[in-house]
Amino acid sequence: MDSLFDTAEGGEDRGERLSELARQVSVCTKCELAMSRTNTVFGSGDPYSPLMLVGEGPGENEDATGLPFVGRAGKLLDDILAAVSLTRDDVYLTNIVKCRAAVEENGRLRNRQPRTGEVNACNPYLQAQIEAIKPEIILCLGGPAAKTLIDKNFRITKDRGKWYEVFGAKAMATFHPAYVLRQHGEDLQNTKRLVWKDIQNVYAEYQKAMERRG
Ligand code: URA
Repeated sequence: MDSLFDTAEGGEDRGERLSELARQVSVCTKCELAMSRTNTVFGSGDPYSPLMLVGEGPGENEDATGLPFVGRAGKLLDDILAAVSLTRDDVYLTNIVKCRAAVEENGRLRNRQPRTGEVNACNPYLQAQIEAIKPEIILCLGGPAAKTLIDKNFRITKDRGKWYEVFGAKAMATFHPAYVLRQHGEDLQNTKRLVWKDIQNVYAEYQKAMERRG
């Protein structure tokens, strides 16, 4: 897996570097998720954006299309980004695992959290994406992404909304859109309020990064 990092520097075009990584991911068999996937889901968006969003992993719709965040959670993510006048094309969007994690229940597949071994197997791809894109800001969507990138003991309810430093980037975590969708009534309002506050703070950093670029 070390070879993933070997060509990250050296003037190579960022898009080409990511295409090569995506090709490697598309044939990856490093964990058992490879056995049941339809498509790998590498990432999408602007590889030159200062802002990278990292979710948990593909669900049914993402597995079917090969694109991140295309289901209900993705629609909510679009709304969250729109609240600060961003679209998914303004950011780079990926996940901690690139294949769907699911469990069979009553003859149907239900999404499940990726296991530690699966996250670890996939982590070099995420690291290589970060090395290629060099984001100035990373927003982790949900606890699993925050535990992977910020701190293994990260607690989303306690630690979200705070800034950390990760790979030379400012990193924050907020609630995963799918978690938001599972809330009701007052909990839903409170959770949304916190996510909207977090995205405002992330956007302030995004604007600073854009100003620095001129
Ligand atoms: N949830 C995620 O964490 N990632 C996706 O791509 C879709 C849903």
